[in-house]
Amino acid sequence: MPDTLQHEIDTYIQRTPRSRAAHTTASTRLPLGVASNYRSYEPYPLHVRDGKGSRIRDIDGNEYIDFNMCFGALMAGHCHPAVVRAVRAKLETGTMFGMPHDAENALAEEICARFPVEMVRFGNSGTEATMHAVRLARAATGRERIIKMEGGYHGLHDSALVSVKPKAPEIGDPAMPTSVPGGLGITRATLANTLVAQFNDPEGVERLFARYPGEIAAVIVEPIMMNVGILMPDPGYHQRLREITRAHGALLIFDEVKTGAKLARGGACEYFGVKPDIICLAKSIGGGFSLAAFAATRAIMNLIADHKVFHGGTYNTNPVAMAAGLATFREVLTPAAYEHVTRLNTRLVEGYRAEIDRSGLRAYVIGAGSNGALMFFDRPIRTYRDWLAADTESWRHYWFAMTNRGVIPQPYWWDEQWSISVAHSEADIDRHLAVFAEVAPLVARAQRARSAPSSGERELSAAAT
Ligand SMILES: Cc1ncc(COP(=O)(O)O)c(C=O)c1O
Repeated sequence: MPDTLQHEIDTYIQRTPRSRAAHTTASTRLPLGVASNYRSYEPYPLHVRDGKGSRIRDIDGNEYIDFNMCFGALMAGHCHPAVVRAVRAKLETGTMFGMPHDAENALAEEICARFPVEMVRFGNSGTEATMHAVRLARAATGRERIIKMEGGYHGLHDSALVSVKPKAPEIGDPAMPTSVPGGLGITRATLANTLVAQFNDPEGVERLFARYPGEIAAVIVEPIMMNVGILMPDPGYHQRLREITRAHGALLIFDEVKTGAKLARGGACEYFGVKPDIICLAKSIGGGFSLAAFAATRAIMNLIADHKVFHGGTYNTNPVAMAAGLATFREVLTPAAYEHVTRLNTRLVEGYRAEIDRSGLRAYVIGAGSNGALMFFDRPIRTYRDWLAADTESWRHYWFAMTNRGVIPQPYWWDEQWSISVAHSEADIDRHLAVFAEVAPLVARAQRARSAPSSGERELSAAAT
């Protein structure tokens, strides 16, 4: 490990002794010391005390401008006043009934006004939303197989936990990637039913339809793949997926768990001008509470009404989460909010680009809607396989150096991206850029030092000439 990265990690450890102790304690009862594997990293994760607006504090009292925003679930920012108001009112009038209430149809109306869908069912997590979407697609077509993209993440149910982060030796033929289980416990039957194509390779999808005629129920895709930083679709990619699925009598599922509330008012459907058959929403629609939805045409959703597909759940439409969701749709996800986050994101992306040029950093920056990412590659990537070549040492250097200076630039791990919320201000962006202007030359210098030939190599090449 280069000294400069080690120096940043040492500084992190010095600044966060309470997080370190809390992690040691938590590790006695929680595997990895965390409640979700995504929160685990070396040497240990920050333990958070509180947050408000665009800021959080850790338990050592360090304050950060937060661009993690709970893995992009907080377009509202921390404790948005409208959400807090709505939730507080519900806390006084009953938090759980397991019976219908007014907010359900009201929120379904909000969703149908923004997305090209006619009926909605609610749940609590993105995992639930994509799980039910896949089951609905199977029921609607009478077929069992689905296609997902290599490197795509759709949550934790078995059908989705395939080829999420497969290792290079396992991935197989790029023309027809191998279905790789995302850990033990995934059955062979599941693997056989979850086929894998590369993102940005519509021909790969066509090959699978040709190989399994009449057997594929749906293609599920995250419209912008955000499990590898940010991977934009090639122009026309989603239109091609739409044509292919339609031609083969299969459904197209847009997993808009991340893009739905953050990319545009009508999510990726609006952004890319595509009408999928089923959409999945979660994360930012809840304003900081557990809320998810899957939605489709009346014909598809009638499978539930006709008792052909079963859907239920004790916590579905929990009044507190629904109050938060309604406040989020009505008072947070406004046209002005999209304008605000897009303007700030453009400013951040342009600032990064200028600093990358100035410092000679071997990386590029990319932004979409309220998300962005610093991508440590020599050239823009198009697939998960390209992503495997990330310069992870430079990324770690960047993340720890930024965090040590009070800006959490994005969630830890180089497969994530930053999120800008309605609570971020221009001053937050300027501070982020000021810190990046300090950090980029440090990382660039470390990159150059790593790629410079050692004195031994110099002598060897001098002897050879
Ligand atoms: C695109 C996508 N789909 C599904 C999920 C799963 O959502 P949840 O963590 O709420 O189950 C995530 C979570 O990160 C996601 O990013």
